[in-house]
Formats: sequence, structure tokens, C-alpha cells
Amino acid sequence: MVDVDTGIDDSLALLFLLASPDAEIVGIASTAGNVAAPVVAANNLAWLDVCRAGPIEVALGSLTPLVVPLVTTEDTHGPRGIGYAELPPSDRALSARSASDLWVDVARRHPGEVTGLVTGPLTNLALALKAEPQLPQLLRRLVVMGGAFHYAGNTTPTAEWNISVDPEAAKVVFDAFSAAALPPIICSLDLTETIEMKPDHVARLAQTAGSVPVEEISADHSEATRSTATNPIVRHFSDAVRFYMNFHRDHGQGFLAHMHDPFAAAVALDPSIVTTRPVTVDVELTGTLTRGMTVADLTGMWGRPPNAEIATQTDPEAFFDLLIERIGSWARTLYPPVAS
Ligand code: BDR
Ligand code: CA
Repeated sequence: MVDVDTGIDDSLALLFLLASPDAEIVGIASTAGNVAAPVVAANNLAWLDVCRAGPIEVALGSLTPLVVPLVTTEDTHGPRGIGYAELPPSDRALSARSASDLWVDVARRHPGEVTGLVTGPLTNLALALKAEPQLPQLLRRLVVMGGAFHYAGNTTPTAEWNISVDPEAAKVVFDAFSAAALPPIICSLDLTETIEMKPDHVARLAQTAGSVPVEEISADHSEATRSTATNPIVRHFSDAVRFYMNFHRDHGQGFLAHMHDPFAAAVALDPSIVTTRPVTVDVELTGTLTRGMTVADLTGMWGRPPNAEIATQTDPEAFFDLLIERIGSWARTLYPPVAS
């Protein structure tokens, strides 16, 4: 079960899961965050079309966080959340039920079987917990991209985006999942900012997909430039990620893009790709400067048992090798290259 605020890196997380033979997406919750929830939902449906996916339920989430107004970030992800990509609008129908109802139903129907992956604000999972407090016991495991532990935030000096958009929801989730059999794995900025996608990764992915011409993403390309890749998955993703690379460059991080969400997706599929550390995690709700900050009690000062495993170490290039091979070969099968 995937909960996303699609989102450029959320898009690649979806592609990675769709390309993974060991993953079955049983539902997609569309959460307000990078862009408004209806735009997120439209993006999710459109990606399913591009990926020629079978029927997967896509549900609309709450239009706002639990208690504060929604803030979106089109400057990071583009006006429609997918950078410069222009996905054909989908005719697929949105689910008639809400994202929180979808969470509850999926967990109840497959007790102990479903891994939950959240790569956006935790609003809809928090709402689902109100309807079904047993969710932590019903899910197999939860993996969350969010937070920053002893590390600068990317939204405020101390807060990471997904938590910052809806801190109350994050607290509800972290508190509730202290009752889970397997503690949630949290992939926070301190690790996900080491997952740097560079133009060469996109070129390799395109080559693996058999897409032509050689996929070149350059900081010199104008805003109007669009990929001419023959493979639609490569073409749309390349247009999306170039926007994200421009954003990172404009913020002094280099011409690259942090792949927070696909990394969390890979952890959800195979937790052995990260080293983790058990800690007690909580969220600052009232600080005048630090609202939305995730706080980890590393030495047990609160006297509360650990409620999460924080991902602390990984091999970023091994992750990219896996991602490129998996998405590239799947994209090639979906859209076989035409012999010239
Ligand atoms: C997170 O914020 C969003 O903008 C990204 O999609 C990612 O989930 C990183 O802080
Ligand atoms: Ca996201």
C-alpha cells in the first residue's frame, strides 16, 4: 500500500514498485503535499497509464492537513508536481472511497501481509488510524520517508517537508506505531540526501531501456527543452527529473536530484539494504522555531521504549544500480525498441 504526494521523486518510487516483480501495489493513497491532493491523484492515474499498469485503486486523500492549512511546493516539483513532464490525462476512474478508507480496508483484508509505504505527509494514515486503531498490528510493516535527525531540515532549519506539512499527523503515526510488531523504518533526510541522482544515471537508465537517442540532461537546457526519448517512461521521467535537478542546482546542491522516495520504496521491498538503529522518535508541535522537527532520543532520556528504526547507512550506488537495471529493463519490455 503506497501513500504518495506525487511529486517527482514519488513518481520514480511508483515506477520502481511497478517495475519490481516482488511488489504488488494494492492501493495508492493520494496525499496533499508537494501539490494539492487532486493533482497528486491525477498524476498517479496518469503514471499508471504510461506504465500500462493493470487496475490499481487510486484514492483521493484529505485536501488539508489535520489542523493547519495546506502548503504546497510547486517551486520544487513544478506546477503540476511532475516537473517539466506533460503526462496525457488518464481516463481511469478515481476510487469512490477516501484514501484513509482505502488504508483501513487494505489492512483489514490482508492482516499481517501488507507493507505500508508513505512518501508524503502522514495525514491520511493518521486519519486511517482514527478509524482503525489496530492498523499498526494489521500492517506487516510501515516504511516512511520523512524527518531529519540531527541534520538540517529542507523546509525550515530543523524540519523536513513531509513532517513539516502535517506535524500533528506525524505525531499520531509515530505514537500509534509504537504498538507495531515490527517497528516502522524511517528514511530521513540525513540518509536520503546521500541518494544523489545525476544526469549519468538517467542516461544509463535510458540505455538499459533501449531508448534513443542518448538521453542527455544538461544544466544548459532551456526550460522549454523536452526529452525526445523514444521510450515514453524514459521521456516523461527525464522531463520530470530535469526540473528537480534545476531546483537542487538553484539551491546550491549541484546539478543532481535527491531520490528520497524511490530509496524508501527500495527499503520497503528489501529492508536489508539499510543499516538501522532503534530509537524513540517524537515530533515537535509547539516550538516557535522548531515546529515539525523530528526528535530522536538516542540515549533513552525519555524512558520510553523505541518506536522506530531509523535508517542510518546504505550504499547509494548499489541502490542506483538496482533501480536502473530494474526500471530500465521493465521499460524496455513495456515499450520494445523498434529495430532501425
Ligand atoms: C520529501 O519531500 C518531498 O518534496 C519529496 O517528494 C520527499 O518525499 C523530501 O523531504
Ligand atoms: Ca514525496
